[in-house]
Amino acid sequence: MRTPLIAGNWKMNGSTALIEAFGSAFASATLPAHIDIVVIPPFLYLDAARHAFKNTPLQLGAQTLNPQHSGAHTGEISGRMLKEFEVGYVLVGHSERRKLYRETDEQVFDRLVAALDVGLTPILCVGETLEERDAGSTMQVVLRQVGHVMARLEPAQRLQVVIAYEPVWAIGTGRTATPEQAQEVMAGIRAYQAGFDTSLAEQLKLLYGGSMNASNAAELLAQPDIDGGLVGGASLKTNDFYAICQSAG
Ligand code: 13P
Repeated sequence: MRTPLIAGNWKMNGSTALIEAFGSAFASATLPAHIDIVVIPPFLYLDAARHAFKNTPLQLGAQTLNPQHSGAHTGEISGRMLKEFEVGYVLVGHSERRKLYRETDEQVFDRLVAALDVGLTPILCVGETLEERDAGSTMQVVLRQVGHVMARLEPAQRLQVVIAYEPVWAIGTGRTATPEQAQEVMAGIRAYQAGFDTSLAEQLKLLYGGSMNASNAAELLAQPDIDGGLVGGASLKTNDFYAICQSAG
């Protein structure tokens, strides 16, 4: 049985006031008994969030990390630093990082290994563009992104990875993949893992991301291969994020 995971990626949004609002809202929230909930604010807010979320079920995630543990990398943050701030999860390979900051599959791999090295749970983000979907190459693109990382990990490392399928055309557009479209790709990702090990495939946690909101979360999360969500815009409002968490119960 895979525990549902709902993660809110705030991207370059939020404020100390929003951190406080989440701390208050979730301190008194009634949530499903078995669920992991992760808030992923910009780095600067992690310390405030660590304190504000003390009496809540909210866990902390970061949006990226440098592949090195320390050194002359001006402006960067390492996994070791994230651990010091009680961060448990880190996104790697988000499509905005791949596109805007030209992160390659190889760099995504290095970051993911750095996360595993320090005991962070990496959430590997994959997904096709609209052109790639229209060209019929969705599965090929997604499995290339997944395979570039998973094929090179040790079996024990593979078990630590969470994968988020985020079709690029559904991110921030209000255009969600249909539950059937998402399920088809996510079943393909799970089947690919079965090529390594069937128990890995059974345990692998798969999140859907791309315009998930309080109205469409339940039908997406009802799909057999969707174990949770990676939520952008709707994770910036306490009520919406709370409603999505409720749908995962
Ligand atoms: P939206 O939910 O705003 O489409 O963003 C999804 C996303 O990119 C989460 O990482």
